[in-house]
Amino acid sequence: MCGIVGYIGPKSVDSVLLVGLTRLEYRGYDSAGIAVLDSGELQVRKEKGKIKDLERLLQAHPVEGNIGIGHTRWATHGEPNRKNAHPHVDTHKRIAVAHNGIIENHFELKQELVREGHVFHSDTDTEVIPHLVEEELKKGMEIEAALFNTIQRLRGRYAFVLLYEKDPSRIFFARDGSPLVYGHGKGESFLASDVPAIVPAALEHYVIENQQWGWVTRDELHLLDYGKQSVGFELKKIEMNVQDLDKGGFDHFMLKEIFEQSGVMRGIINERIAEGGKVVFGEKNNSNEFLSRLSRIIITSAGTSWHAGLVGKAYLERFAKISTEVDLSSEFRYRNPVAEGDTKVLAISQSGETADTIASIYEAKAKFIRVLSFVNNTSSTIARESNSFIDLKAGPEIGVASTKAYTAQLMNLLLYALFLAGVKWILDKDERMRIFDEIRRIPDQIDQILSRADVIRQWAADFRETKDFVFLGRSFNYPTALEGALKLKEVSYIHASGYAGGEFKHGPIALITDEVPVVCITPQGEIYEKMISNIEEVRARKGKIISIHTEGDEKVPGMSDYSFGIPQCSELISPILAVIPLQLLAYYVAVERGCEPDQPRNLAKSVTVE
Ligand code: AGP
Repeated sequence: MCGIVGYIGPKSVDSVLLVGLTRLEYRGYDSAGIAVLDSGELQVRKEKGKIKDLERLLQAHPVEGNIGIGHTRWATHGEPNRKNAHPHVDTHKRIAVAHNGIIENHFELKQELVREGHVFHSDTDTEVIPHLVEEELKKGMEIEAALFNTIQRLRGRYAFVLLYEKDPSRIFFARDGSPLVYGHGKGESFLASDVPAIVPAALEHYVIENQQWGWVTRDELHLLDYGKQSVGFELKKIEMNVQDLDKGGFDHFMLKEIFEQSGVMRGIINERIAEGGKVVFGEKNNSNEFLSRLSRIIITSAGTSWHAGLVGKAYLERFAKISTEVDLSSEFRYRNPVAEGDTKVLAISQSGETADTIASIYEAKAKFIRVLSFVNNTSSTIARESNSFIDLKAGPEIGVASTKAYTAQLMNLLLYALFLAGVKWILDKDERMRIFDEIRRIPDQIDQILSRADVIRQWAADFRETKDFVFLGRSFNYPTALEGALKLKEVSYIHASGYAGGEFKHGPIALITDEVPVVCITPQGEIYEKMISNIEEVRARKGKIISIHTEGDEKVPGMSDYSFGIPQCSELISPILAVIPLQLLAYYVAVERGCEPDQPRNLAKSVTVE
């Protein structure tokens, strides 16, 4: 949460920072600001709201210069207003800091600094940083020593960039716990929370590690560790397509990303299924010997990635016959998981920066459990802290509500389960071939669903005033019900709950009235008849039925107020297809209600606080 950016080079710094911040806006959009050295003087502009609000402020009160830092905020400490917007400055307004993370001991530090006569301007934890540096400078330290001594006093997770009025050719930084990337272009240097903020101008990058600090000039990065030793590093070429970072003619990233899902599936299938039906995971993996012994898997993840984990459990148990538990990352570390036998932890995360999931990886590693992560950002903290990782290959996902990363997670988990089944020699060839045939049909089936998106768009007006939704699914599609409800809540702000169909009669059925639409995920398969019973129970109580059923079903559409068919497929493939109409429902209802689906209130794409 929160995005930071720094720039030094020949271009006008305000426009470089604005582009960078816009690309980081998915990390938070409560307020935004920049600090620039304009003719040798530190100038700060900040505004409540989104980057476009900051842009308006800059039009009215422009700044000029070639060195500066910027920030887009997701509020943790202090209200989301202009006063608490970053960058924050010291008492004499010579040092500016943009920070991502939490300074846990800020309260004690602030008390101490106030006693020393420092004047604070905000309610944030961040503001202690420029004041601590100021205090060190007051004692006669050089800026490097002042920064180093400051870092020694901070507890918590952070990445920050710092501008000092008296040093107009360097941007200082430190990282411990929150992401920070250095980018190098032609006579220009960048610092940012994530690579999209610095492309295409930055050609090469280096991911700053935890407990590293230093400064950048126009031409180079000067890197040190927390023992004050210089650190060597290797710059890597940035491979990112700028087209992936714009809306490509769609009204919102969310809709674009929903429509990208067939292409994402094709890419994963081509990459992972080799001739003859062998599943390939090119990434560094465990030895086959260890994998064939594996007797227990614990999946740890959050939000949508947790829902993917629930489907992943079904795949792993069905195909690889490995007993699998699924934990919310935020709970995993507190239940003191038992580490015994040949256990492996799978951490699933689109961003690779979710603090709860990172904490659970540390917990697993402390118990000597090997961690394999499924991430969409291969230079992320989760990828680097895991023993090995699998690239989800969904491409950059910018909409805050996860869509294509979810289906990419399901596909990769399915293939990973088949890969493990292969290692253990437990799937007969015919069954393997039948599953692969089905998997290869998925991209076209998704295209078929998307070609009928208009059907769902037309439903949306009927739900403009709806207050509550219920989603029901069973077996493979219980997680689909949870995910459908989460999507709708996130982007349309309508209260929605997902339940396992079998649990419905144990309580949630009390919610049903003629004002509550119930989305019933009812594909053909083992649970079909049971889901029909759920539909009957809702109809008996005058609830409205929205059904997602298999095409050609002659029963369910007749029992439904709204119905949408997904192509014929086996039950285990159905979660990948059935979620797509639910993503579309959430999107179109949000737009109908005038909500901003790409930037839902109170949310941020990477949740980097625990
Ligand atoms: C999804 O729509 C959410 N915005 C959210 O639940 C998300 O899935 C969760 O925060 C986990 O994120 P991660 O996959 O990046 O770890």
